[in-house]
Amino acid sequence: MDGIGRLIDRLPKVELHVHLEGTLEPELAFRLADRNGLALPFASVEKMRAAFDFEDLQSFLDVYYAACSVLVTRADFRDLTRDYLARANADRVRHVEPFFDPQTHTTRGIPIDDVIGGILDGLADGEREFGITSGLILSFLRHLPVEAADATLTAAEPWLDRIVAVGLDSTEVGYPPEPFAPVFARARSLGLRAVAHAGEEGEAALVARTVDCLRASRIDHGVRAADDPAVMRLLAESGVTLTACPISNVRLRVVPTMERSTIGTLMRAGVAVTVNSDDPAYFGGYIGDNYRAIAAALDLGVDDVRQLAVNAINGSFATAERKRELMAELEAAVAGMA
Ligand code: HPA
Ligand code: ZN
Repeated sequence: MDGIGRLIDRLPKVELHVHLEGTLEPELAFRLADRNGLALPFASVEKMRAAFDFEDLQSFLDVYYAACSVLVTRADFRDLTRDYLARANADRVRHVEPFFDPQTHTTRGIPIDDVIGGILDGLADGEREFGITSGLILSFLRHLPVEAADATLTAAEPWLDRIVAVGLDSTEVGYPPEPFAPVFARARSLGLRAVAHAGEEGEAALVARTVDCLRASRIDHGVRAADDPAVMRLLAESGVTLTACPISNVRLRVVPTMERSTIGTLMRAGVAVTVNSDDPAYFGGYIGDNYRAIAAALDLGVDDVRQLAVNAINGSFATAERKRELMAELEAAVAGMA
């Protein structure tokens, strides 16, 4: 294996863009369907995986929301979370800030306490077993009315001391961020940070508008910001972190090939870009695969890979003390490569 491959293998990683529902591997989906007496619209694990051939974001979201129907009990959410953390641990993830979409479950009649309680159980398992620290992000679905996002924030109030931030995901084109500004302002007044998906399928200007109207400290994806030097300058100057997901972008045809990823352009413009997996069960790659794919396609060197990992530590919502620990682990791994 080449030097960069070895560095990526041993790199202590911070993952800032992963949807827990997007880590539902077909094997677990079938196990949960069986446990809950439910049917999946696929004859087998292999047939389900074969259906993961997407044309765009919406064609993926349709499959992703349908598969969530097997997540029913608090134990299901715990198993989902713990399985992801076991895979993340194999990739040397040391800190993660995962999203969950409460509305995907509450609209099916699942109590929000079971969703959040199960995820927190799984995160506690992961910290105990693997030492992976975490900060949970409650993400609103932008294709649903803003009143539903507001009601979701109210329903989550008993849990807010266990949640670090609110997010905004689902269909981007046709669902602008501005209507969500009051809900995000309320979340910030309750002590939460703000992040939001933008610039995945939407244009560069949407990235700037999202930072402005939601006071987002991170933009999820944001890769289309590379189309506009003024937006890249704004991101670089304001220190907004982008959580890019290179394999996702190829699989959802945001870019035609990995070589055409805009991550290199963003890095050269001084934007704090990071590498993440998004929905790894559906896109066929966890965070290590994403680092390896982008490093190979853009011919990244040790300094580039180190910078991506540093950006993730700095852009995280971990405590200052935890950030110092993560940075020390990172520098030890990079020094070991010299
Ligand atoms: N974009 C928007 N919404 C999502 C995604 C994504 O990549 N993954 C899960 N929900
Ligand atoms: Zn995402």
